[in-house]
Amino acid sequence: MVKKKTCVFISGNGSNLKNLILKSRDYNFPIIIKLIVSNKKHAFGINYAKKNSIPFLVVNTNRRLFENKILLYLKKYKITLICLAGYMRILSKKFLNLYGNKVINIHPSLLPKFKGLNTYSRILKNSEIKTGCTVHYVNEKLDSGNIITKKIFFIDPKDDEKLLKIKTQKKEYLAFPEAIIKIYRNY
Ligand code: GAR
Repeated sequence: MVKKKTCVFISGNGSNLKNLILKSRDYNFPIIIKLIVSNKKHAFGINYAKKNSIPFLVVNTNRRLFENKILLYLKKYKITLICLAGYMRILSKKFLNLYGNKVINIHPSLLPKFKGLNTYSRILKNSEIKTGCTVHYVNEKLDSGNIITKKIFFIDPKDDEKLLKIKTQKKEYLAFPEAIIKIYRNY
């Protein structure tokens, strides 16, 4: 199988990145991670790039300069899929026009509910019965675009933000790889 060359964008912890790196080692998993991009110099996730000898870039300039620089590297590494894994910036229409439907994002709620920041606190405040995570194609609007897959679980009345995050991220580690497999199933 020819694995699709993939770039992962991060801004923070990188636990989804770590999970995707592990999965990508499976012979049958459709992608190989060739490049990691962070817009934060001290993002913990950069350590996974270093540990696994994957080239990485830190670009913490404004969006236009960031995207122009990234585009050069995406070309250089022949990237055909971009996974946003906790990447907390919106991509421009120009960038998305060039990369079309090759950019996917993971979000810790059942979209279209609870787009944006402070997701867990808003979910709890709203007394939701269930929650989960969503993987979707990216467009120029925040946490929007066609949905690829969702994972759902019921909220326990004892769940606080910390527990909700742990439970949601457990689902994310299943959802992101599953979405990637789904994308390439018919290729
Ligand atoms: C993930 O839970 C992801 O869903 C969320 O950031 C976290 C990153 O965790 N993304 C968003 O909220 C996007 N709007 P990680 O750095 O440990 O993978």
